[in-house]
Amino acid sequence: MADDTFYVTTPIYYVNDKPHIGHAFTTILADTLKRFHQLCGRETHFLTGTDEHGQKVERAAADRGVCPQEHCDSMVGFFEQLATDVGASHDDFIRTTEERHTKVVTHLLQSLFDKGEIYKSEYDGWYCVADEAYYTDKDVVDGMSPSGRPVERITETNYFFKMGAYQDWLIKYIEDNPTFIQPDFRRNETLGFLRSQTLNDLCISRPKSRLSWGIPLPFDEEFVTFVWFDALTNYISAIGYPENTETFGKWWPALHLIGKDILTTHTVYWPTMLQAAGIPQPETIFAHGWWLNDNRKMGKSDGNVIKPAPYLEAYGIDAFRYGLLAEMVMGQDSSFSDRTFNLRYNAELANDLGNLGSRVTKLLAKNLDGKAPDVAATALDGAPEKELWALAQDVVASYEADFKAFATHKAIAQVMRLVRAVNGYLEVRAPWKQAKEDDLGPFGITIYTSLECLRIASILLQPVMPNKMAELRTALGLSGDPRLNQATQWGLIPAGASITPVALFPRKILAEEPEDKPAATPKKNVKKTEGVTTTDQISIDDFTKVKLRTAKVINAEKVEGKNKLLKLEVMVGSERRQIVAGIADFYDPDTLRHKVVIVVANLKPAIIAGIESQGMLLAASMGSNLKLLTVDGEMASGSKVQ
Ligand code: MSP
Repeated sequence: MADDTFYVTTPIYYVNDKPHIGHAFTTILADTLKRFHQLCGRETHFLTGTDEHGQKVERAAADRGVCPQEHCDSMVGFFEQLATDVGASHDDFIRTTEERHTKVVTHLLQSLFDKGEIYKSEYDGWYCVADEAYYTDKDVVDGMSPSGRPVERITETNYFFKMGAYQDWLIKYIEDNPTFIQPDFRRNETLGFLRSQTLNDLCISRPKSRLSWGIPLPFDEEFVTFVWFDALTNYISAIGYPENTETFGKWWPALHLIGKDILTTHTVYWPTMLQAAGIPQPETIFAHGWWLNDNRKMGKSDGNVIKPAPYLEAYGIDAFRYGLLAEMVMGQDSSFSDRTFNLRYNAELANDLGNLGSRVTKLLAKNLDGKAPDVAATALDGAPEKELWALAQDVVASYEADFKAFATHKAIAQVMRLVRAVNGYLEVRAPWKQAKEDDLGPFGITIYTSLECLRIASILLQPVMPNKMAELRTALGLSGDPRLNQATQWGLIPAGASITPVALFPRKILAEEPEDKPAATPKKNVKKTEGVTTTDQISIDDFTKVKLRTAKVINAEKVEGKNKLLKLEVMVGSERRQIVAGIADFYDPDTLRHKVVIVVANLKPAIIAGIESQGMLLAASMGSNLKLLTVDGEMASGSKVQ
């Protein structure tokens, strides 16, 4: 990536589930940065895509009862659609199951193997499928990975990459390149980790007998590649490494945008892999924080995801992008809420910016026939105009610095500072009164100065809101792609230009939940349901004695010598339990893994077929049919059922 080119990537998303606001955000951020660099005149390349191998995807496919490739083919569309829905202008979308990618992974593995960077040894440790990561004993607390998800013990022969040999080199590289990992506190996090412990070699394979859904190791067909080794390589396979030296040379090194959850893989695994292969390092790895819902990371396993679709529908693409980028203090976590989103939309887009646009363009239409007045040469002679323009220039300079520091929320706040200053200027100059004077000169100066400031705002906000800013620019009579250097020039709206009234952001009323929902009226006549009579009725107190909880099945197996029984291992929140259930006639144990079921959590343990059973599963049954109760959508294990 030379000074005149810019290559940006998002993480490639796992296709185990449909995308949510967290995924949308990284894509929006990448798109906004790409558009900013275009504004600065650079040639740009934006890559996104999907991570389709590994155990997590294999299990998601098994849960749906389809083969992994079929699963990926049916899921990838959701991620492609998401990119389109949020207005991403990506230049490439890579899938790790594509041949153009798998052949590069194979090449990289073979060349590292040939160089003696890969060796075979025993792995004895933990694996977390949800994180797709290996963990040591000290990482695992109460059967959970550092991210709070269940781990599995594995003891198997595997291949290892000599990552440990690069520890000192990596520390020095990060120290010598202060902008390599950003923000600074994430850089310190990686440095702290590298300085405080011995960096182990990286296990980069799984035996085919345990996991078949991966790229085979070229030097041992009995193994497939660890999903992270495969996935990280997408950043270079997509731009033609190693064969197409022209495209690779043109775009590499990249800016990698990631969420903070994948800092280690990107700032330790990836740099050492590249170094061992003799490939230059990425330009920068920038980690943003998480979108939280109810103070917890939004994610599939927490069952608290917020989908972008309703917001895109209600507010439109541009307002959605603006809302997320303005809200998240870049680098920090941020909570998403309907209310904050709506308040910001109405205050900043509908009121400050939208009203400014419509007020100025309407006044011009009404009083000067929508034609830009011929005052550019003299308008800045006036003190308030000079002051406003100076502020606009200060905003442009800060905006550029903020963008370069990835502080997109600050860059946006700068533009809004200008917008509010123009609104303040209008209050003082009162063009609605000036329009009633015989001399329309002062009116023309007020309107023209405001139009020029709106033009600056339309340039600066273009990376964030490309469609709405294009609409504004058309209304201002401007054509062609904007450039940042036009924001430092005065008077680019020509005298006589036709300006049309514009209404950009209509106010949106948030449908409020009524504060006091009426209490449900008890029904007098209790109907008789199948098999239940009024004499069976219990009081609510009786019912609340039964503690029902959601539980995630992590393992299920047949009980030897007992045809009807299965032994299940389940997680109820962070507690591991064993339950024996008479469901073997109805369920194949393999199909139960990962299901979220309902258990009676406070039942006294019982010994069934000589095995302790610590709870009971709920199931619906009629005749010879039986189905386990589960939940309608995602729900964390350990959730109350009431
Ligand atoms: N497949 C790996 C990445 C491989 S990159 C070589 C992966 N996939 S993921 O789908 O689980 O998450 C990818 C990214 O989605 C995160 O790093 C982050 O950028 C984004 N987010 C997912 N959940 C998020 C939030 N709750 N908040 C913000 N972004 C998060 O990890």
